[in-house]
Amino acid sequence: MLHEHIHPGVMRRLNVGDAEAFAEHLLRLDPVSRQMRFEGALSDDTIRKYALGAFNRPGVHLGYVENGMIRAAGELVPEVRKDFSWPAEAEAAFSVEKHLQEGRIGTRLAERIIGYARVSGIRRIVLNCLPQNVRMQRIAAHFGGELRYLEGEYQGIIELGAPNLATCLRAGLHEGFDLVDRALNFAETMRPAPR
Ligand SMILES: CC(C)(COP(=O)(O)OP(=O)(O)OC[C@H]1O[C@@H](n2cnc3c(N)ncnc32)[C@H](O)[C@@H]1OP(=O)(O)O)[C@@H](O)C(=O)NCCC(=O)NCCS
Repeated sequence: MLHEHIHPGVMRRLNVGDAEAFAEHLLRLDPVSRQMRFEGALSDDTIRKYALGAFNRPGVHLGYVENGMIRAAGELVPEVRKDFSWPAEAEAAFSVEKHLQEGRIGTRLAERIIGYARVSGIRRIVLNCLPQNVRMQRIAAHFGGELRYLEGEYQGIIELGAPNLATCLRAGLHEGFDLVDRALNFAETMRPAPR
């Protein structure tokens, strides 16, 4: 059963300064979620290396952050083209810690990631997931994705239209909120401690 929650955390873009916290988030995934996220049983070491290197690779990382801890993330990794031309396709992946699953955070992350992709000129998003990953398949379907079965996994293909005024405005507003949120968090850390 789906539980609708009002979440106290914020969604914001992650950057290289979040690499350690991103690694901690991925390492906190329970074994089943880890298996679903990486489609295999990866060691802690491999996951840490993957997370710490994530911000040196092209892409967008979005985090759901509660009390300074990244509790969920969405990643958008564009295809690398040999001729260095602008990518038309990107792969998206999501991770929500177990206690927050089925509370719509995955769907909200997907909406934001799709928004970033569209305004960046990406025309197709690919979501890879295991056959038993019903939630991820529902997310793909929710955003108009076409599901196909390919060598033991499902691929959700979401074709994106060209950006329009509304999609650009929405993406811009999200960026603006991110900035305000960062400024407020920074101000909070500068406040003198109570005596
Ligand atoms: C897959 C994942 C990202 C989904 O995020 P979530 O916040 O848990 O899911 P949501 O609450 O947004 O629900 C997504 C969809 O699944 C449906 N759903 C939720 N729980 C369900 C359940 N127990 N059975 C069937 N459908 C379910 C929701 O109704 C929603 O579909 P809808 O839009 O058609 O209503 C998250 O569960 C997760 O991180 N899992 C582990 C890692 C993983 O699988 N990553 C994806 C591979 S890249």
